[in-house]
Amino acid sequence: MDPVRPDAVARPAQSPELSVVVPTFKEAANVPRLVELLDAALAGIAWEVIFVDDDSPDGTARVAKAISARDPRVRCLRRVGRRGLAGACIEGMLSSAAPVVAVMDADLQHDETILPKMYAAIRDGAELVVGSRYVDGGSSGQGLSSVRQWGSETATSLARRFLKIELSDPMSGFFMIRRDKVEAIASSLSREGFKILLDIVASSPERLKTVEIPFTFRERQAGESKLDSLVTAEYLGLLFSKLSGGLVPVRFLMFLSVGASGIVVHLAALKVALHVFATTFFWGELAATVVAMTWNFILNNQLTYRDRRLTGLRFVWGLLTFYLVCSLGTIANMGVATGLFETVETGPWVAGFAGAVLSAVFNYTVSAALTWRK
Ligand code: GDD
Ligand code: MN
Repeated sequence: MDPVRPDAVARPAQSPELSVVVPTFKEAANVPRLVELLDAALAGIAWEVIFVDDDSPDGTARVAKAISARDPRVRCLRRVGRRGLAGACIEGMLSSAAPVVAVMDADLQHDETILPKMYAAIRDGAELVVGSRYVDGGSSGQGLSSVRQWGSETATSLARRFLKIELSDPMSGFFMIRRDKVEAIASSLSREGFKILLDIVASSPERLKTVEIPFTFRERQAGESKLDSLVTAEYLGLLFSKLSGGLVPVRFLMFLSVGASGIVVHLAALKVALHVFATTFFWGELAATVVAMTWNFILNNQLTYRDRRLTGLRFVWGLLTFYLVCSLGTIANMGVATGLFETVETGPWVAGFAGAVLSAVFNYTVSAALTWRK
């Protein structure tokens, strides 16, 4: 531990005008370099940087706090038991008291030298400034593989078409915004996935006065990217969630997709039971149900609730409560479906569908409260 240095204490504290929020996961090697680059780029602005680290095993938070101990402009928020880029950005922005906040990556892919231009645009009346790879003068340079490039473009055109978002680069993870604009919508932002900017734009009640500034996406420095196909799935989920006016949470959509895969597994297991083990229908169906529930539990634990993943004994306990929830869900399903079928005479498809919807909503709501409760 450094002793308290009198000069650090005596230094006149000027409250920052700009907080740069940097989400980190395993970026220990990039943090010191980024602070140097910010220091050079932001001369003349009272800035601070807030690293929001999800307890990286490589000690990123330790590195950031060691710098923080010498330099009051550097802060670090260490989150434990949680993962997620969007959530980290939101918490970082909400921990700021500066009038203006920026978000950028730690891996030096974002060009910090445009930060003063972005800040000037806010001073000139913009509410949101986006570092864009796709306006004239910007480019995704060496930063993206061709598959990622294609994915990024497709995601952009989907957002434009379905969410009526006019930005040239809504997937950008590099932007600056007036903090009051974020505070106003904080509770409706999704903590899952990568698409924080898109979410902010889609969730803002009125159109934010927006300026786009080109930059060239650089190659990642140390470490590796955390964007994977799951992140893409979450993005599609966010799109649907926003289309439904936020009524349908992203997690529920993930839960439904897992459930859909569970139906396939169920049928396959039933086939194996009947043909390989020559069981009666009753026992085959029962075995298939257990297999499918187990499958759903494992997948939901890995994907839908990866930020609250259960391990060890809690995994076993979670599995048992999940069986219980699904059994109750099935009873509810049967009750509603047969009730509709017999009394309202809706016909088997409507009744069956209503039953399935009910049990999906039931299973989702109750397992969130019981199996994966916070
Ligand atoms: N706290 C926290 N928690 N930080 C995270 C997490 C997490 O779960 N996952 C990633 N990060 C941090 C990384 O450490 C990095 O600083 C930043 O978020 C971006 O992560 P990368 O893994 O480098 O993402 P990328 O380069 O593939 O994606 C970037 O470019 C995309 C556009 O192509 C990001 O800026 C995306 O937001 C952007 O859409
Ligand atoms: Mn990156």
